[in-house]
Amino acid sequence: PRTTLIDCDPGTDDAIALWLALASPELDVRLVTVAGGNVGLAATTANARAIIGLTGRAIPVVAGAERSLMAPFRSETAVHGEDGLGGVRLPEGPPLSPGIAADAIRGLLRAAPAASVTVIGLGPVTNLALAFATEPALVDRVAEVVLMSGAWSEGNITPAAEFNAWNDPEALAILLGLGCRLTMATLDLTAQAFVTPAVVAALAARPGGACWQATLAILRALPPSRRMGFRGFPLHDPCAVAWLLAPGLFGARDAQAEMDCSPGPGRGRTVIDRWQRLGRPPNLNLLETLDAPGFFDLLAARIAGLP
Ligand code: BDR
Ligand code: CA
Repeated sequence: PRTTLIDCDPGTDDAIALWLALASPELDVRLVTVAGGNVGLAATTANARAIIGLTGRAIPVVAGAERSLMAPFRSETAVHGEDGLGGVRLPEGPPLSPGIAADAIRGLLRAAPAASVTVIGLGPVTNLALAFATEPALVDRVAEVVLMSGAWSEGNITPAAEFNAWNDPEALAILLGLGCRLTMATLDLTAQAFVTPAVVAALAARPGGACWQATLAILRALPPSRRMGFRGFPLHDPCAVAWLLAPGLFGARDAQAEMDCSPGPGRGRTVIDRWQRLGRPPNLNLLETLDAPGFFDLLAARIAGLP
């Protein structure tokens, strides 16, 4: 299995992504680091502890950035609820591990062989940017970075920007400049992981343990998206994990991305050159298409097998 660290801001879809990762033998999740994002850091860390606690696994959860590098973040309680889990109550998880996320990330990378660590980012990437900016040589320990972030078309938090990218554009610019393999599941990709009431009804036919029941409860709690015509909502973060489990479900292309870090209306936009118009070297493996039925089958088959 791939040695993996997950940086997240749970978050309803982060929770489902974490369960998908923990249910999958392809990934050996050694560390979960947490930032503020969907809700404040106190709630995202409590949620991460509870999500991992429900699986019965002992994986260190370390708290990190409360806000982005350059500006305060805006949370997304309209989507994720005040508690970040859409009101779905989980038993309290084990305590936080001591320390700060960026230190824990660097510690894991330092102890790892070259090109061996898979890094998954499911929120604003402040913790990851702090880790790499303070010890850039550690990038040679990375096998692949996979992010749910950005959009090549319109955004969801502003017309220009996707929520995670908008919440820390400078941090995302640092990651885009790392020079390692970086795969991105943007809003244009996650829109294809579209959860309608019919999808939830089909998933609910499968029996499963507490993690699967909580997954179904979260899917039932999420509000339909205006951007998607109120017919359902996109399940963002699990797409990034699914890429590592079943790349055959995706179509991808090399692309070049640059952040808009200006203070204006474009702030947080991931300006993605899909057609090599600028002739710059690619810095992105851009996920473009998703086999949605295959994705939902994978999600159900894996998470339903958890405790
Ligand atoms: C991203 O923002 C958050 O609301 C979700 O958890 C996801 O990571 C989608 O824009
Ligand atoms: Ca997230």
